Amino acid sequence: MNSLIREGDVRDILSKSAVLIVDDVFEKPAAGLHEALADYPDDSIYWLRGGESAKQWDQVKNVLTFLYEKRLVRDAVITVIGGGTVCDVGAFAASIYLRGVTLYLVPTTLLSMVDASVGGKTGINFQGKKNLVGTFYLAQEVVIDTLFLRSQPHQLITEGIAEIVKAGLLGDALLLDMLRDQGKNIIAGTIADEPFEDIVWRAIAVKHAIVTEDPREQGKRAFLNLGHTFAHALEAEEGRYSHGIAVAWGLRCAAHLSVYLNIATKEYYDKVRELLDIYDYPSKVSASAESLYAHMQYDKKKHGNVLRFVLQSAIGETTMVEPDEDSVLAILNEHTR
Ligand SMILES: NC(=O)c1ccc[n+]([C@@H]2O[C@H](COP(=O)([O-])OP(=O)(O)OC[C@H]3O[C@@H](n4cnc5c(N)ncnc54)[C@H](O)[C@@H]3O)[C@@H](O)[C@H]2O)c1
Repeated sequence: MNSLIREGDVRDILSKSAVLIVDDVFEKPAAGLHEALADYPDDSIYWLRGGESAKQWDQVKNVLTFLYEKRLVRDAVITVIGGGTVCDVGAFAASIYLRGVTLYLVPTTLLSMVDASVGGKTGINFQGKKNLVGTFYLAQEVVIDTLFLRSQPHQLITEGIAEIVKAGLLGDALLLDMLRDQGKNIIAGTIADEPFEDIVWRAIAVKHAIVTEDPREQGKRAFLNLGHTFAHALEAEEGRYSHGIAVAWGLRCAAHLSVYLNIATKEYYDKVRELLDIYDYPSKVSASAESLYAHMQYDKKKHGNVLRFVLQSAIGETTMVEPDEDSVLAILNEHTR
């Protein structure tokens, strides 16, 4: 089974939904959803504060209590509207309540449109470790409302672009060219609708193809973790960096590690970092290499005691590698201060 991922208007979804779990940023009129929600019964909306702090067991418990109090039945539709954190928590709650209720997702950040809402991974952080607890649970529908492409703050666009760079590296070289050619317009907020939406749908297509081939991450799906061993360690160490910025830094580190291990050419690394530089992503972060390395020991891709990284020999050529500690530390030392 697969989610139906389609373009749509959030207002059409509301009428089908028994309850909504909504990022509380939309409680304020400025964020763009206020009017659409005006006619929706207030007591059927659960407002969840978006951000990494949402991804906690206590928040899941509160959502489950809300669903219980609303006497939600299994075939009623629960619609989750928000960024990746609210989608992860809402979808997790939907996946375990009554062993799974019908779920619709309306992602409201670029990152959640192209990544978090695609492929059915749900979850929360646990014991300070990213996404340690969760389920695989597909939304019946994922509705991309392009209203949010225009209404979200610029910072969120930059964060989302990082996962689009990853998608391009994994499976769509043309997407990388588009990100390079449109870089100035994206940064200035002047990109036209058509190329912007084209970029979004191409990124969704890369992820969708991978998760359709390997829904339970028994093989190729792990490639979506390109850059993420570095990124998750950074997020665990330093709460200041958002997921998107951490991913951009992680992609740079992964490309550098590929060259360091003689898996890829310097030209590959140059191409990756030139693209990341257009968007002004950090090359060095404030963190200690040793401490980041210690966080990596909790990485879910570990094979026994050995750390495994998703690396590339070239754009579109992805592989799993088990580098020695000294090589990883050398890269971490290059990219920290
Ligand atoms: N499940 C998956 O497969 C998957 C994949 C990638 C990332 N993720 C997860 O996604 C999370 C990151 O998601 P994110 O980048 O969307 O961050 P986020 O959900 O934290 O949203 C960022 C901020 O933007 C606000 N916001 C949301 N939509 C807005 C809008 N339209 N206008 C203004 N503000 C808005 C939120 O309230 C929050 O403060 C991470 O926890 C990551 O682990 C999950």
